[in-house]
Amino acid sequence: MWQEFLPNAWSVEYSQKNAVLLSAATLGAGGVLVYWLRSRYKIKTIEMGDGWWGSGERLLKGKEDESIRPFKIETSDKEIEDLHRRLDQARYAPPLEGAAFHYGFNSSYLRKVVSYWRNEFDWREKVKVLNKYPHFRTTIEGIEIHFIHVKPSYVPHGQVVQPLLMVHGWPGSFYEFYKIIPLLTEPAAHGLTESDVVFEIICPSIPGYGFSEAPRQKGFDSIATARIFHKLMNRLGFKKYYLQGGDWGSRITTNMAQMLPQSVKGLHLNLVFASKLGLTRMISVMLGAYVPWLVGLSREDVQRVYPFVQKNIYELLQESGYLHIQATKPDTAGCGLNDSPVGLAAYILEKFSTWTDKSFRHKDDGGLESKYSLDELLTNVMIYWVTSSIVSSMRYYKENFASDPTLDADARVGVYVPTGIAAFPQELVHTPRAWAKTTFKNIVTYSYMPRGGHFAAFEEPRLLAQDILHFVRKVERL
Ligand SMILES: *[C@@H]1O[C@H](CO)[C@@H](O)[C@H](O)[C@H]1NC(C)=O
Repeated sequence: MWQEFLPNAWSVEYSQKNAVLLSAATLGAGGVLVYWLRSRYKIKTIEMGDGWWGSGERLLKGKEDESIRPFKIETSDKEIEDLHRRLDQARYAPPLEGAAFHYGFNSSYLRKVVSYWRNEFDWREKVKVLNKYPHFRTTIEGIEIHFIHVKPSYVPHGQVVQPLLMVHGWPGSFYEFYKIIPLLTEPAAHGLTESDVVFEIICPSIPGYGFSEAPRQKGFDSIATARIFHKLMNRLGFKKYYLQGGDWGSRITTNMAQMLPQSVKGLHLNLVFASKLGLTRMISVMLGAYVPWLVGLSREDVQRVYPFVQKNIYELLQESGYLHIQATKPDTAGCGLNDSPVGLAAYILEKFSTWTDKSFRHKDDGGLESKYSLDELLTNVMIYWVTSSIVSSMRYYKENFASDPTLDADARVGVYVPTGIAAFPQELVHTPRAWAKTTFKNIVTYSYMPRGGHFAAFEEPRLLAQDILHFVRKVERL
């Protein structure tokens, strides 16, 4: 951007006698100006850095094994018997009368979930479902990174295959993408016809989640994750790729775009962190309540953002206790959750209730089965259970909230890659385009989605797929 200012600084012409002196002075002043403009307009990136997350000292001798190894999820009688024994021995505290989901997971409904889990849920069959896509593992920075890699089974003539990395969040997993994957790898076969792009999808597990190994060292945050996922994509032979994410996946893919913008064709998000809470934002929030058009807010934004204190402070306080625990002492509560499948299910599925729709707190059963099947929900819980990964997944909050987020390097680095934002109406916080622009300098599409909440790919795969296709088509045409 700064190049636009160069001609003015240099094109001043002088014909006077003492031109030499003057032009020397001009050059000096011009130099200062250019330097200033340059530092002001230069696109800053996040340092890529390096890391080691295996146990003990980094292995300096020899190169890391870069092989990509096929991987299969397995189970055993022993694993299932152990689970059943624990489910049979569960203890429940009765809920308060009329509490529904306001005090957390209603334990009477939890008994029903557990009874289904114990008597009907068939983990062996679910393992087959999970294995229907090709899984792999590879070692990066000392730990095993798990991912699935799905290619279209055939590519229609004239269509270009775009690599797309999709990143999950907490308390989700790579499994959240199982319904959207076929819509993106074979859109035409699913009625998404006008599409002239198809994708091959790479869904990794964040280290410490599911089948990716947990870091052994302190400090593993979203920037380290971003670097590892770039390394993964490069190891798979991709030079340029698209990124998609919500929840932690949003922060990780955003960091990836800030780190190596030249490798990112486009960034699609279904949750936007607008972390710059400066004076401009405060003014925008205040004026927005009275003269929204003046600060670039649409009528839809106003409906979703106001009353501001109620929706953005009170609601968030009510719903963010888990965050405080996980950002401070994750291991303590984690001991119980890692030991009890019933506790684990309550902890994880409460989020699938409230984050899908806040009004589900009023429902005796948390509204869970109105949007998902128990099979789907329990499969996600099982991914945490069989891998013993709840504690390491919770630690991710501590590592990422270690410092004041507004001081973090990534909050000060703009995102210049083409960006698409899908704003779902039941998302925890709504970020209007006008606010997203402070970080995302190149928003190509911004969509007010008609329905859906935090787990967009899991809940509304079709809507999300349509928006991703719409975004990528637009970027490819530019
Ligand atoms: C908890 O859920 C059960 C089963 O869905 C329901 O019958 C009961 O009324 C609920 N209890 C409370 C306290 O909301």
